[in-house]
Order: sequence, then structure tokens, then C-alpha cells
Amino acid sequence: MSSYNLAVLISGSGSNLQAIMDAANSGNLSGARVALVVSNREGAYGLERAKNHGVPSMVIDKANISELLKTLEHYEISGIVLAGYLAILPLEVINEYSGKIINIHPALLPLFGGKGFYGIRVHQAVLASGMKYSGATAHVVDCGIDTGAAIVRGVVPVLASDTAQELQKRVLVMEHKVLVKAVRIMVENKTKETVEKPVMVIEEKDRENMQEFAKGLAALGDALLQHNNP
Ligand code: GRF
Repeated sequence: MSSYNLAVLISGSGSNLQAIMDAANSGNLSGARVALVVSNREGAYGLERAKNHGVPSMVIDKANISELLKTLEHYEISGIVLAGYLAILPLEVINEYSGKIINIHPALLPLFGGKGFYGIRVHQAVLASGMKYSGATAHVVDCGIDTGAAIVRGVVPVLASDTAQELQKRVLVMEHKVLVKAVRIMVENKTKETVEKPVMVIEEKDRENMQEFAKGLAALGDALLQHNNP
């Protein structure tokens, strides 16, 4: 049986890539393997991580669409993971691998996503908003920015004392869990049904407080809905 070949696209340190390679190596990705790592930036530490794991890796400029498509075909890629990939994926690739590309975003989409929401700026915006919770979302990639359907979300508390860096660190730990779950769902071809009912990851220690918060959000949602039907 031909295994499920993953291509992971990166731009930076590659800790999400590392989480996927570790999961694959420990047999937690339903038989999938990381067959290729592509960075749009020279010197991305994630390239080192790939080399250390014996995974073929290369730099392909984000504008070089034909080279990216040829490389994905050469490595017989079944699914693509954007793991901190800071370029916009060309439409040709999105169409060629429609429904088989997922992205990890360091916030609870659709909140704090879209143009300009990347890196530390996401966490600065969350802190500025006064939100009591944040988290990570793994979603299907469509032709928008962070607009694809969510597959897995993971929620973490925002502490009053948090700096953006402290929040970023807490969210990143959750990203790794969320992304591995989402990749497994994609590999098992369960994306469509999961999109109907996205998976929610909440640490047991946070559950009670979050449910109080969720009741507040539900009340807000009801109020908004009623408002639309005068
Ligand atoms: C992560 O926060 C990811 O959500 C964002 O960029 C960061 C990449 O981290 N898109 P890493 O390169 O996976 O460590």
C-alpha cells in the first residue's frame, strides 16, 4: 500500500514541522510520512530539522509556482501542511490539492485572522482585545487568508499578566497538538465530516472556567441573532 506522503511548507523555526515529524515517527499519523519539506526562505531552521530527520528539503521561491508543483508531483505528495508558511499559496497549488491542504493559525479563527494577523501581532491583538481565551486553529486552506473551514481548535487561557511573548509560547504548545490531530484527520480522509463538527481541544485544568466563558459567548451569540430578527 503506497503510504500517504506529506509535504510540509515552512518559513521559520519549524516547531510545528517537528511535531508532525515526531508524530509520524512514533506511528501517530495513521501511516503517513513527511516526504518533503519546502521553505520559501533560505536559512529557515526548519530546514535543519528536516535534515536531522533525513527528510528531503529545499528552498523554493514563493513565485516559482511551476517548480513547486513539479516538486510536489515528483515526491508523490498526497497532502500539504502549511506550518508557519508566511507566503500566500498560489491558486494553482490550492486547486491541484483542493481539500488536501491544511494551515495552522495561532488564534481562534475566525477571530484574529486574515491579512496582517501573523506572528506576534496576533497575540498583541488578542491581549489588546481583552479576550480571556485564545488558542490555535487548524483549517482547510481555500483561496482566502485564514478563511478555510476549521478542522481542529485548541483553547488556552489568557492570563492578566501575559505578555504577547508569553501568550505566543502557550499557544504554540497547543498548536502542535492541534496540528497533529488535524493532519491525522486529513490522512484518514475524514476532513469533510470533521468540518461539520470541528474538534475542540481543551486541557482538563482549564475546562470548567472555559465553559463559563462559553456560556457568555453563547448568550452574546443569541443576542446578536435576535438582533437580526427584529
Ligand atoms: C506558528 O505560531 C504558526 O502558527 C505561525 O507561525 C509560527 C510558526 O512556528 N503561522 P514554527 O515555525 O512552526 O515554530
